[in-house]
Amino acid sequence: MQVKQESIFKDIPELRWVETKSEDSKRSIKSYVLRTSYLKSFQLEAVKKYYATYGIPFERKTLDYKEVYGNDNPLIIEIGFGMGTATERIAKERNQFNYLGLEVFLSGFTKLLDRVGTEQLDNVRLMRFDAVEVLNAMIPDNSVAGFHIFFPDPWPKKRQQKRRLIQVPFATLLASKLVKGGYIYCATDWEEYAYQMIEVFDQVPSLENKFKGFCPPVTWRDTTKFEQKGLDKSHPINEVWVEKRI
Ligand SMILES: C[S@@+](CC[C@H](N)C(=O)[O-])C[C@H]1O[C@@H](n2cnc3c(N)ncnc32)[C@H](O)[C@@H]1O
Repeated sequence: MQVKQESIFKDIPELRWVETKSEDSKRSIKSYVLRTSYLKSFQLEAVKKYYATYGIPFERKTLDYKEVYGNDNPLIIEIGFGMGTATERIAKERNQFNYLGLEVFLSGFTKLLDRVGTEQLDNVRLMRFDAVEVLNAMIPDNSVAGFHIFFPDPWPKKRQQKRRLIQVPFATLLASKLVKGGYIYCATDWEEYAYQMIEVFDQVPSLENKFKGFCPPVTWRDTTKFEQKGLDKSHPINEVWVEKRI
């Protein structure tokens, strides 16, 4: 049985909002479209059982990582985790890091919340909120060990391309949040967007692309749902890894 998302909002009202309206009622980048999610009973249960432990509400207050995770391990932020399959595997395999997953899509958010709660992945926390706002309001500068951005929406039509996440202002924001030596790791099946990523990161002076182009695939990333969709259409998968040098 599937139910509309509203039943979750009755239990946890803060999950209803994924953005605050700025004064001119505009988002900085309209990188997502919100669709109504229909949820299965295990997803509703997951919110009731696990949100208090593994969910973080949006606040205009910087996050105290030690308080949240109970340790000083370095933090990786994943933006747009979708169904969260890669997130779960990476959090288990590379458990020397803490993870903060950001996703506005409620069905994916509740699916990963279920996995994280069931598996008691204590190095993971999840937020249902616009990543740009979270970074600006809650993440201190020079504090993040890495960003994962897997298959961001490609917005393929020319007139939509301003909605792509990877543009110079956003890349500059990511760089400002990284510690020295921290990384941004992106993957895409949209070739022209892959070249845009290289060009964008090249324009941020604090970032260095040691590969001078695309990077070889890492061994620890699972094939994601959107990656599989791309592979089914024979799209090439390109990956980009840059690091903060200063
Ligand atoms: C194309 S999907 C890829 C999902 C997943 N990473 C994968 O590879 O299957 C992009 C995801 O990014 C999310 N997203 C886009 N902009 C976002 C933002 N500003 N904040 C949080 N999530 C965002 C969307 O909701 C969507 O689920």
